[in-house]
Amino acid sequence: MSSRILGIGSYLPPKVLTNADLERLVDTSDEWIRQRTGIVKRRILEQDSDPTIMGIEASKQALKDGGISAEQLDLLIYATNFPNMISPGSAPFLAQALDLGQIPFFDLKAGCSGFVYGLVVANGLIDAGVFERILLVGSEALSRVTDWKDRKTCVLFGDGAGAVIIERAPSGEGVLGVSLHADGKKAHLLRLEAGGIQIPVSHETIDAGRHFFKMEGKEVFKSAVTMMEFSSREALANAGIELADVDWIIPHQANIRIIRALAQRMKIPMDQIIVNIDRVANTSTASIPLALDEAYRDGRIKRGQILVLTAFGAGVTYGAVVMKF
Ligand code: COA
Repeated sequence: MSSRILGIGSYLPPKVLTNADLERLVDTSDEWIRQRTGIVKRRILEQDSDPTIMGIEASKQALKDGGISAEQLDLLIYATNFPNMISPGSAPFLAQALDLGQIPFFDLKAGCSGFVYGLVVANGLIDAGVFERILLVGSEALSRVTDWKDRKTCVLFGDGAGAVIIERAPSGEGVLGVSLHADGKKAHLLRLEAGGIQIPVSHETIDAGRHFFKMEGKEVFKSAVTMMEFSSREALANAGIELADVDWIIPHQANIRIIRALAQRMKIPMDQIIVNIDRVANTSTASIPLALDEAYRDGRIKRGQILVLTAFGAGVTYGAVVMKF
């Protein structure tokens, strides 16, 4: 294992949508949303905004934080569930905006675990000597695929982006252990059905709302806690690190009750867990880099500390990365 995070950045669109705003859209209440999810507000990308703006701003910050220029990158990995276009995805638009020249890029689709998957892929490519310095972006405009009439989903999500620069590191620094898993039998739990080649968009699919993101919330909830616990423990074992030596856990921000249950099962106090779901809701692939960036900037997370990043998401996918930051 031989790569570390050189620079980090994030972006949240300015428009705030509060629980009170949602009370005016669907039959819900601020109290229900707070108690059942821990969410108070979220950011929403304006309808007329180009979603690329989120990746651009997060990447520029990450480059600045890492003290390097875009010309020094040699790969872009863009983790997202809902790309700018089904084809060619999102990465080309960000590469164009950042003027990345002829370096390779690709979209990575692994549900809300996309950022963790991206870290493992980037680390492996650096370890294999293929690339030196990789830009990994997690960006999601979930508001664009949300059914704003469905109270079971619309209260949960928000928009945002996070980006990191990953580069070769001396042994013992950066990524120390990883764990990646998935279970295709649970593919039905989180889905946007229409618009792919299995169910192309038609008048019928639109009338049936099959172009919106849907999920089996309760089933996801049950699996989420065990998947993140399993991966975190496996990544720690692979790294040869004891739980007692961990400074921070940064879990995917899907529901405060999932995060609390994870803390309980791992026997880690909540004050060692980074939480920002109250302010940004579930931002999917952006959730971990957003939380990491925020806690790094406000001084909670410091260089040299041991972090566990863990996520789960559509697929279902799950995983964890243990790193010396
Ligand atoms: N406002 C008010 N009531 C709501 C509501 C809302 N926004 N959404 C659902 N309800 C109602 C339900 O209709 C149900 O009413 P009923 O008992 O009369 O049928 C009641 O609240 C309980 O619903 P339930 O689905 O059992 O709630 P829950 O405690 O399981 O919480 C989730 C629902 C979605 C918040 C929770 O299951 C969850 O977070 N799951 C994981 C989702 C997730 O992580 N997704 C992304 C993965 S990356």
